[in-house]
Amino acid sequence: MKEITNGVYNEGREIFTVNSAPGTKVYGEQVIKKDREYRHWDPTRSKLAAAILNGLKTEINKGSKILYLGASTGTTPSHLSDIIGTNGIIYSVEFAERVFRSLLELSEKRQNIAPIMADARKPETYGWIESVDIVYVDLSQPEETEIAIRNANMFLKKGGLLLIAIKSQSIDVTKKPADVYKTESEKLKSAGFSILQLIDLEPYEEKHGFIAASL
Ligand SMILES: C[S@@+](CC[C@H](N)C(=O)[O-])C[C@H]1O[C@@H](n2cnc3c(N)ncnc32)[C@H](O)[C@@H]1O
Repeated sequence: MKEITNGVYNEGREIFTVNSAPGTKVYGEQVIKKDREYRHWDPTRSKLAAAILNGLKTEINKGSKILYLGASTGTTPSHLSDIIGTNGIIYSVEFAERVFRSLLELSEKRQNIAPIMADARKPETYGWIESVDIVYVDLSQPEETEIAIRNANMFLKKGGLLLIAIKSQSIDVTKKPADVYKTESEKLKSAGFSILQLIDLEPYEEKHGFIAASL
């Protein structure tokens, strides 16, 4: 295994993180035992893995503090949890009760996942959280970018990173995906963000893009 960016390892075209809860799996992923336990990071299940395989350059550091909007059952948060280690934290916002239960169970095994049952459209309801290094957004919602901007303005540190997974069909089914990504990038620029990268997630995720921006 070779470390390709902070805490992310590869073997051929497959990527892995080191399991910080050894002996447990999160979504049925393959686990390889070597010097440590490595969890396969499936790019068809996690848009962040797809973005990394398609050339995302920004690194996520040990000790990073992350606000994660749309945590669902915790597939991607679990890999972030491996990367940031025990000094980092992922404030994980999710509003659907059924998936939130699985997220709660996951947080019992991983102390750096802080589950918050809330609506990301109302960031003031979790206004008590600290400032973060990264805001990660995966909501599959028409107003996703607006929600991302509102949350970043409240919680992202100056110079911090905003990562948004965009499902083009949730935003506008009539437009070409590339045009949707461009429109969403323009919204971010108008709100004062610099676009660092815009990545197409094909072939792992059809009609999905990924934007990395900084404040
Ligand atoms: C595509 S899934 C996220 C998958 C997850 N990010 C992963 O990679 O493991 C989108 C999630 O966002 C949640 N969601 C959508 N709108 C939301 C909102 N306004 N507030 C909180 N959660 C929301 C949905 O319930 C769903 O679980």
